[in-house]
Amino acid sequence: MKKYLLTAGPTPVPDRILLAMAREMIHHRHPEFKAIFKECQDGMRWLYQTKSTPLFFCCSGSGAMEGAVVNFLSPGDEAIVVVGGKFGERWVELCKAYGITAHEIAVEWGHAVDPAAVARALEAHPAAKAVYVQASETSTGAAHPIQELAALTAARPDTLLVVDAITALGVWDVPVDAWGLDVVVCGSQKALMLPPGLAFASVSDKAWRLAERARTARFYFDWRRERKKQETADVAFTPAVSLFVGLREALAMMKEEGLPGIFARHDLLARATRAGAQAIGLSLFATAPSASVTAVNAPAGVDSQKIVSTMRDKYGVAIAGGQDQAKGKIIRLAHLGYFDRFDIVTALSALELALGDLGHAVELGASVAAAEKVFAAAGKAK
Ligand SMILES: Cc1ncc(COP(=O)(O)O)c(C=O)c1O
Repeated sequence: MKKYLLTAGPTPVPDRILLAMAREMIHHRHPEFKAIFKECQDGMRWLYQTKSTPLFFCCSGSGAMEGAVVNFLSPGDEAIVVVGGKFGERWVELCKAYGITAHEIAVEWGHAVDPAAVARALEAHPAAKAVYVQASETSTGAAHPIQELAALTAARPDTLLVVDAITALGVWDVPVDAWGLDVVVCGSQKALMLPPGLAFASVSDKAWRLAERARTARFYFDWRRERKKQETADVAFTPAVSLFVGLREALAMMKEEGLPGIFARHDLLARATRAGAQAIGLSLFATAPSASVTAVNAPAGVDSQKIVSTMRDKYGVAIAGGQDQAKGKIIRLAHLGYFDRFDIVTALSALELALGDLGHAVELGASVAAAEKVFAAAGKAK
């Protein structure tokens, strides 16, 4: 059975990147690696749309999230955290682990935070040193309005906006400098089309200034040490050399497509997925849907975990279900990174078949037809 990896991370890795990584090892202190590292820096600067020097870490995205807490706050500090899903909860867990008081803004799962709620929280907790949020809350498929939130923190010289853009960067426009986003973290196994293992951060001048006061204990994820090293195209520790080689190739592919092309493709795939799901009577879970993953409510009486396992085990199509309060209730169809139109057709087709197997017959082909109509309309518009 042919297998299809249609999850929101890890995402499929193109052959071109796999082949680039399938080469002899090189030493990370040699000029050849330095040149690759510099290309990766330039590429990430382009992707982040920033003049600052992006930082690289050898860890999954959560490692960069941890760094975005310990490098800017101290034990006893306060932070405001937008919690609209699993990854919002992770910010809270990280704050708690380091003795930081997290003032939570609870957002109903699937919804976007209301910027007015963040403005109120900033008024209520003027000592808060940061607002932590997801650009795309992958667990619910919702996108938060980070540009609006940046306008709130921009007016406060001692408060940072820290954005987890792990499933947003390289999916839609996140112009870091233009919007004034202070810290933006990302991971390799999403829109960057790479295996897991690399994480990234952009850090504003304001954030570096405020980093001077942070007293939280840290060692491996000491971003000031990394900054010093990485500004000279060096790294503190042995890096994941092969992933940097892959990243250089991924960024070359992304540059060939161009940012407008990348954003338009993700938008098109998201719209087609939504149309497909709705055409077979399914409703969307997120009221502010992200362009990286579409969360769809399972039909009444059908356990979404069964949809996921049937699609995977019977049809070879891997998608994700819901977590925690959404477990058994939603499925998540991904479309970020190395995804194109026929990945959507495949996912929808397998979904229709699996629903039928589970006793919820739908008109076969209806969701595929709806998605194709979106593709055809986009093709005509060109
Ligand atoms: C929005 C978001 N934040 C954080 C993470 C955690 O990243 P990782 O699993 O790479 O540590 C993920 C991973 O799915 C994510 O989607």
